[in-house]
Amino acid sequence: MTDHAQVPLSVQFEESEDRGSNASANPTLGDVIAARFDRRDLMKGLLGCTAIAATVSPVALMVAGEARAQGNNTTPSFAFKEIAAGSDEKHYVAEGYDADILIRWGDAVLPGAPAFDPANQSASAQAMQFGYNNDFLGFAPIGGSPAHGLLVINHEYTNEELMFPKLGRQDQKARFAGMTKELAAIEMMAHGGSVLEVKRENGKWGIVPNSKYARRITAETPMAITGPAAGHPLMRTNADPTGTKVLGMLNNCAGAMTPWGTWLTCEENFNGYFWSKKAGEEGPQGKALKRYGAPGEWYNWGQYVDRFDYAKEANEVNRFGWVVEIDPFDPNSVPKKRTAMGRFKHEGAGNIVNKDGRFVAYQGDDERFDYVYKFVTDGRVDTANRAANADLLDKGTLYVAKYNADGTGEWLPLVHGQGKLTAENGFPDQATVLIHARLAGDALGATKMDRPEDIDVNPKTNKVYLMLTNNSRRKADQVDAANPRADNKFGHIIEMIPENGDHAALKFAWNILVKCGDPAIAEVGATFHPNTTKDGWFGMPDNCAVDNAGRLWVTTDGNSPKATGRADGVWAMETEGSARGTSKLFFRCPNGAELCGPYFTPDDQTLFVAIQHPGEGGDATFENPSTRWPDFKDGMPPRPSVLAITKRGGGKIGV
Ligand code: FEO
Ligand code: CA
Ligand code: CA
Repeated sequence: MTDHAQVPLSVQFEESEDRGSNASANPTLGDVIAARFDRRDLMKGLLGCTAIAATVSPVALMVAGEARAQGNNTTPSFAFKEIAAGSDEKHYVAEGYDADILIRWGDAVLPGAPAFDPANQSASAQAMQFGYNNDFLGFAPIGGSPAHGLLVINHEYTNEELMFPKLGRQDQKARFAGMTKELAAIEMMAHGGSVLEVKRENGKWGIVPNSKYARRITAETPMAITGPAAGHPLMRTNADPTGTKVLGMLNNCAGAMTPWGTWLTCEENFNGYFWSKKAGEEGPQGKALKRYGAPGEWYNWGQYVDRFDYAKEANEVNRFGWVVEIDPFDPNSVPKKRTAMGRFKHEGAGNIVNKDGRFVAYQGDDERFDYVYKFVTDGRVDTANRAANADLLDKGTLYVAKYNADGTGEWLPLVHGQGKLTAENGFPDQATVLIHARLAGDALGATKMDRPEDIDVNPKTNKVYLMLTNNSRRKADQVDAANPRADNKFGHIIEMIPENGDHAALKFAWNILVKCGDPAIAEVGATFHPNTTKDGWFGMPDNCAVDNAGRLWVTTDGNSPKATGRADGVWAMETEGSARGTSKLFFRCPNGAELCGPYFTPDDQTLFVAIQHPGEGGDATFENPSTRWPDFKDGMPPRPSVLAITKRGGGKIGV
């Protein structure tokens, strides 16, 4: 066990991800892979080039050519002056741009919310104020406007040492000695999400006060459980014998917007919120719980709230780890946990309407050696009638990805009765397949990846970008073609190309867009294009966004002076033509923060970004002046914030 008192909570999360719970025998080592490496070396030799931006298999090239023929391959490159990499207490954006703070932790969301008073916090105040650790951001236009709409925000987790005066880090190492029921209640209200009505006037974004749309979602908001697992015995609790109703959502990391204007918010490290670790290791659910790392005891809420104590309520844990769909336009709507999309540590749900009209969402399960999934609806998106899509996500097929060594890939269906997903193997019905999706993926022989984070689709080319953030636990005998580096400290980005541009197809081609890290250090094996400057490379890709011109923007989590000599930020990444693999630094975070939620308005004139856990790490505390971004005042803690990046004088970002 790592000394959790010495490491920031996001790192603790990552260590859980780092630990990996995947003990399945699925191959990480392929004999065939050697052949692939040989071919790569051959390609390098033939091209006489030491810095091929991306190694691409012949099969992938073939399919890529097809995708290019279908799509627009005239992606414009990025026009902005790159900023310097580095790390200090401030944030920086490229010259000619403004990065304005729109809202911070503690600011009012609901009408009548009290002013932020960090020395006198309460659960009732927090329930009306902006929550902690903003991750995903989504923008839903009102009346099609790029300058007026709803901004939705995930509040992933809480950092006690940064939130509460003189409290310090609370965890098992500290025996949660400083925790109280009231502090836990504040934390529960700081989780979940926010809906804000936002408007751009005279070039500047602001929050519309007293909006009828304003909403806070918390760990106690009533939600519905829908789809194949709803009502299943594993979903029933003392408080909800129907197995269809649950309070709250937890650890909502990334997400996505749907074409019908709803918000998909994805529960990631839900395991950490459950208590009674020992009880979890025994009993009938033991195997599944172990695979999900639950109960994790990262928070002690279970000491105050029975449903978070596994010993008191064994099935509550099964009601977390889902994709939640929320209609932000109706503040009274009941959020729905869409069980058809599977239960795992969801990062996001990057999606596209397939050419046949079906909705396809790509999903990463963010833990070391875990899987990539996609969900394909049975029904088609109705573009004329929004209400017709209300329960589209309840019926469909979940698939898990297998990456072959030759640059092809397969989507394996998680369908009860197919392959090994039978009662004899522990899958008596489809609900169990979905509740224990990780075990189903194990049974099907999915490929163990280097922590799959965000996935996004480029609608111009149909290419799919997958962020693999890192995996320092991968051993040399565990490398495979899609995860080619042992001790992968800096991560990589995979490009996936669906067969015939069909996102519902069972086959795809893939290649590595870039292996991350410092290209100047040969042992790192980074493959950025040589035109990438000393500021332009990055490690640990986490979230991403594709702008309306089809250009990829990558944001990171885990860069630091120690890890890479730079803070996290936003990098613009060339994906096409001779510049492919060139990356350029656009925005840089303050100390300790990760950059989340990159989201473009439909006119590309605004990039919303989320600064998560500023000040985290090292000896960061509420009192530490170096962690007071963005207020820099005594008595003010660092505050996770949402920023609107715009071009001074107007215009598209990076053009
Ligand atoms: Fe919450 Fe996978 O990052
Ligand atoms: Ca993330
Ligand atoms: Ca992350």
